[in-house]
Amino acid sequence: SAATATNIQRNPAYSELSSDDVSYFKSVLGETGVVLDADRVAVANVDWMGKYRGASQLLLLPKSTAEVSKILSYCNTRRLAVVPQGGNTGLVGGSVPVYDEVIVGLTGMDKIISFDNVNGILTCEAGCVLENLSTFVENEGFIMPLDLGAKGSCHIGGNVSTNAGGLRFIRYGSLHGNVLGLEVVLADGTILDMLTTLRKDNTGYDLKHLFIGSEGSLGIVTKVSVLTPAKLPSTNVAFLSCNDYTSCQKLLLAARRSLGEILSAFEFMDHHCIDLATSHLEGVQNPLPASPHKFYVLIETTGSDESYDKTKLEAFLLRSMEDGLVADGVIAQDISQASNFWRIREGISEASVKVGAVYKYDLSIPVEKLYDIVEEMRCRLGDSAEVLGYGHLGDGNLHLNILSNKYDDNTLAKIEPFVYEWTSAQRGSISAEHGLGLMKAEKIHYSKSPEAVQLMASIKKLLDPNSILNPYKLPSPSSSVPCN
Ligand code: FAD
Ligand code: MLT
Ligand code: ZN
Repeated sequence: SAATATNIQRNPAYSELSSDDVSYFKSVLGETGVVLDADRVAVANVDWMGKYRGASQLLLLPKSTAEVSKILSYCNTRRLAVVPQGGNTGLVGGSVPVYDEVIVGLTGMDKIISFDNVNGILTCEAGCVLENLSTFVENEGFIMPLDLGAKGSCHIGGNVSTNAGGLRFIRYGSLHGNVLGLEVVLADGTILDMLTTLRKDNTGYDLKHLFIGSEGSLGIVTKVSVLTPAKLPSTNVAFLSCNDYTSCQKLLLAARRSLGEILSAFEFMDHHCIDLATSHLEGVQNPLPASPHKFYVLIETTGSDESYDKTKLEAFLLRSMEDGLVADGVIAQDISQASNFWRIREGISEASVKVGAVYKYDLSIPVEKLYDIVEEMRCRLGDSAEVLGYGHLGDGNLHLNILSNKYDDNTLAKIEPFVYEWTSAQRGSISAEHGLGLMKAEKIHYSKSPEAVQLMASIKKLLDPNSILNPYKLPSPSSSVPCN
């Protein structure tokens, strides 16, 4: 089955799908909610990168929380394993089956329930596509607190379940702060109503946090309420180049100090990313073609005063050039130029998968050390693969993509476990924002203590005693603890 999980056996405790099961699901969801068509199920079996492939025969498309509850209650009794699936844009093999798990897709639950336009609180079903929510709240004078390259397909329920970070994290922080309430269906079908819209509520444990980032292993998120910041009238985007990584770092510090409250993104990419994006994506050009440099930084400011913000950004750029931090730079003159700058940064993942094989790592590392691993990896791999470094520098989040024309064990052996050991030695995280999924379930020990992993297992046992939810994507109890 999945390319990277050949050592995982199907758990025989799970039942195999029978025709009685299908009849039951049809009685609950009707014919349209039960997808057996091989082509449609095949699409849901494979992830966005085309790297992880399951062998499910059944895709269920509930339209309400009550239907989700009936599905899970039945699967729990029957011991049928389940994979919750949102927009299927996850990058760690978490959203597709490993074997024959039943896929529960949330696409049919895409209604906006309410919008409080005084407090900026959106309540919606989990299957709403992020971009649709953005458009909706922008029309009301607000923005979503998160934005990511997958916005056209990913669901808010998937964002919550992966605790997605993305491009606005530096300004608005994590979904742990922005999600105010959730409705979740537990493995046995219990509907857990935590759908409050309050900013403050200290009545006992804040249980919603268990589900934010739990990657479908503890329940299916069915509704979300989220705090949306006010949409501010002035946005500016600058595309800059730097001669070395130290300058990028210094520029970040300078941006935090000088741009302060208007800084809304600080993204970086090395020149390999620019070369890749410009050669694989249609219409994408380097905004600074005259003098190719080693590093590029995209800075966005968002504020309430057009002329003040622009003056501030221009002064910052001038000073950074004088100080030698910035080699070259350009400020977008209109929305179309600004979106071209963003297209380069957001297009790196899309361009990467066009090459063939992409070994993808998503690391939290102290900013001072963040680029060292990219350089070390280049030395280890030589000409056998291309190594790209980019990411959310403002959040200390490196994306390390290693590209090659096909997946092979020799290349993998040069990358792993080195990349995990190196990250662990820096006390970094082996998954800053993409999650564990199938890819990293057994690697959790590099970033979490045995006691923390044990407590996670106890919580899993409590909430999903038959372990029907998203199997193979959490560490198995027997997995060994590597040294770090
Ligand atoms: P899926 O891929 O369908 O699922 C992801 C996980 O969540 C799976 O484990 C699944 O079982 C679970 N899940 C999904 N829906 C539910 C639900 N309703 N209830 C319970 N569990 C559920 N991530 C970032 O953090 N930052 C980025 O900047 C970023 N950029 C990306 C850019 C591109 C081009 C792509 C392809 C991906 C990017 N990602 C990024 C990865 C990211 O995890 C997702 O895009 C997104 O958050 C997943 O949402 P989804 O609806 O596609 O979920
Ligand atoms: C990004 O920041 O572009 C994403 O997390 C996706 C990726 O790295 O592929
Ligand atoms: Zn990212």
